[in-house]
Amino acid sequence: MNTNEIRPRRLADYVGQEEVRKVLAVYLSAAAARGEALDHVLLTGYPGLGKTTLAHIIAAELGSKIHVTSGAALERAGDLAAILTNLSERDVLFIDEIHRLPAAVEEILYPAMEDFRLDLVVGKGPGARLLKLHLPRFTLVGATTRSGLLSAPLRDRFGISFKLDFYREEELQEILLRTARVLKIGLEPQGALEIAKRARGTPRVANRLLRRVWDFALVEGKEVIDATLARKALEVMELDIMGLGPFDRLLIKTIMEKFDGGPVGLDTLATALCEDPRTLEDVYEPFLIRCGLLRRTRRGRVLTPKAYEYFNQGRKKDGLLF
Ligand SMILES: Nc1ncnc2c1ncn2[C@@H]1O[C@H](COP(=O)(O)OP(=O)(O)O)[C@@H](O)[C@H]1O
Ligand SMILES: [Mg+2]
Repeated sequence: MNTNEIRPRRLADYVGQEEVRKVLAVYLSAAAARGEALDHVLLTGYPGLGKTTLAHIIAAELGSKIHVTSGAALERAGDLAAILTNLSERDVLFIDEIHRLPAAVEEILYPAMEDFRLDLVVGKGPGARLLKLHLPRFTLVGATTRSGLLSAPLRDRFGISFKLDFYREEELQEILLRTARVLKIGLEPQGALEIAKRARGTPRVANRLLRRVWDFALVEGKEVIDATLARKALEVMELDIMGLGPFDRLLIKTIMEKFDGGPVGLDTLATALCEDPRTLEDVYEPFLIRCGLLRRTRRGRVLTPKAYEYFNQGRKKDGLLF
């Protein structure tokens, strides 16, 4: 599936995040009325909540060209300088994973953001000169999974900052119905709701589940996904009613059995699970925390009584597959 195809292109098609949409619409029309570039925007939110989508929407609403790069791709100051000198007036520069910018690259971003100026050191040793270039007024859109990962000076240079939240079931249902229309998938509203319930509050997860359920429909010889079919497919995928899957249960079980319910440090836990600590932190933990099964404390990760309850219930009931 081409993710670009199912991405909403305009603000009006962006589902949920009402507060963000409302405030952003005001800033966009103010910038348009003044004929100025929009202030720099920082987008914070866990993976799959719609940061990249929103960055493209901002450019589309401004009628501007978007230049896309990421913090990890910009290794040297020169990499960023090359991009900055190619910008035109009111263009959008989108830097994904902006918390991964190396310090030396971040340094040249400061004057670029603040004064639209590029300070370049040309040459080496005693003959080196400082070259000051004037840049067009552009809008930087930065995306990060957690704003706490950003250095304070960088964070302070964003005039606008939005935090994206997990989506409600009805919102995910709407997103799913929209995706189904675009991809010509037969999906009933009740089928969409079943998928939405298990989508961990995350549009990317919802869209991914929809594809898997659609595969399942094909195998079953069904042309429409209704509630029964969706439930059946999701059970085969071992997703329970909260949207927790095999890895979530393994994570809980590991803390329960190997670490006595915690506290256990992130790195130790990651090693026990053979998983990258950053993935645990950004992809798995936020949802478990939101479900009230896990807590982050200063001494490490701790299971809540609800986690034990969840597990004991799962052992008793059918439908929870562990
Ligand atoms: N508010 C939204 N409305 C509709 N679809 C959305 C929304 N937010 C995200 N999506 C969909 O979810 C997927 C993931 O979004 P993306 O912008 O790539 O997330 P992020 O960059 O935060 O990881 C995209 O395919 C997009 O179509
Ligand atoms: Mg993204």
